[in-house]
Amino acid sequence: MATNTVTQRLQEAKHVVVFTGAGASAESGIPTFRDALVGLWERFDPAQFATPEAFRADPSLCWGWYEWRRNKVIHAQPNGAHIAIAELASHVPRLTVVTQNVDDLHERAGNQDVIHLHGSLHSPKCIDCGIAHTLPLPTDALPENGRRIEPPRCTACNGYVRPGVVWFGEMLPEDAWSAGLAAAEECDVFLSIGTSGSVYPAAELPLRALGHGATVVHINPERFDISSQEHFLEGAASVMMQKLLRESFGDLPA
Ligand code: APR
Repeated sequence: MATNTVTQRLQEAKHVVVFTGAGASAESGIPTFRDALVGLWERFDPAQFATPEAFRADPSLCWGWYEWRRNKVIHAQPNGAHIAIAELASHVPRLTVVTQNVDDLHERAGNQDVIHLHGSLHSPKCIDCGIAHTLPLPTDALPENGRRIEPPRCTACNGYVRPGVVWFGEMLPEDAWSAGLAAAEECDVFLSIGTSGSVYPAAELPLRALGHGATVVHINPERFDISSQEHFLEGAASVMMQKLLRESFGDLPA
């Protein structure tokens, strides 16, 4: 049961920020990063796949892994959390979705102008000249552990095309970070859904919102420590988001 305070603040809010991590896409079958046994970093070494050095050392291994992840996203569907977040937009004057996720499930659920702090699997670019490229849909389901796939070559400079995601050691896109920070510091309610809060600067956003007087709510099946001013709804994102919408705005469409 969401606390009355949360539902009341949501009903009165002029601007809500929804901040998501991998847990928001978990129920769509997209692996998280740090969940024990199933998280990507439990089974793969981030240093081997998620750094510029890793790509330059073995472009085909890295590209194959990201193509496997892109393929999983293409075959996945938005889950109840994505759908409830998209539904929330029709109940509040202003909703800003800021995600750490590189999938497009918020967009496919109906949210517009999603802020991607860590880039997207759907926006590859040349590793040398930086120009954007588009990718065809993958033709076949890649094996679980991915496989070496030679990355495409840049049409302008013939450099390798790399995934359009932010790797460890890289800066966040300036425009995305500025927009996410501005929204966090301006909103009345900040819903932080499905994130371990372990990667900065993204993990700063709930604290920035709290510091500017927002009601901060964490939604996660795994309880973690929060300050006395924050709220925690313990449960899966789809269950808790649908419950929060029902309690705040009445029944959801079927
Ligand atoms: N509903 C809500 N939360 C869930 C669910 C679910 N069904 N399943 C798992 N979770 C929670 C886990 O308890 C965990 O707290 O989602 C969180 C996932 O944490 P991480 O795997 O660390 O993912 P995230 O917080 O998004 O990682 C941040 O780290 O590796 C980088 O760039 C990567 O964007 C990523 C960033």
